[in-house]
Amino acid sequence: MERTFLAIKPDGVQRGLVGEIIGRFEAKGFTLVGMKLITATRELAEQHYGVHKERPFFAGLVNFITSGPMVAMVWEGDGVVASARKIIGATNPLNSEPGTIRGDLAVNVGRNIIHGSDAVETANEEISLWFKDEELSAWTPCLTPWIV
Ligand code: TYD
Repeated sequence: MERTFLAIKPDGVQRGLVGEIIGRFEAKGFTLVGMKLITATRELAEQHYGVHKERPFFAGLVNFITSGPMVAMVWEGDGVVASARKIIGATNPLNSEPGTIRGDLAVNVGRNIIHGSDAVETANEEISLWFKDEELSAWTPCLTPWIV
């Protein structure tokens, strides 16, 4: 079953949006298989955003991501990687459609409240970067037959 890595960034936690954000993925019908509140070390943040290390926003991004606790999560379901990206919305919240998390709840690209893996391969890398195998629980929600 496909899995993705999602993280509510420090601004989402500070703004009290954890329940609102998690609720959207639950309501969609995806399954939460891992979750923890974690303040990322610089090493973890730099590895996670390694692809952006030459970009001008990298230092600010790492400072922001390490500034407070995040809610790191693994979600499971058919097509969850691409679907979660749609639910999250475009990177710059000013371009995110209304109805998406960023479109409804954020205004600034540097404070866009949630991360979601951009491809299945990246998702698998990010899941193993943030979680140990024993921190993930495979389970079958009994609602599944009503959704898929
Ligand atoms: P990116 O991987 O392009 O976007 P996404 O989070 O939608 O996958 O960028 C990673 C994060 O870097 C993004 O969520 C916010 C930050 N960022 C900036 O602060 N300024 C920028 O110009 C860009 C492109 C990203």
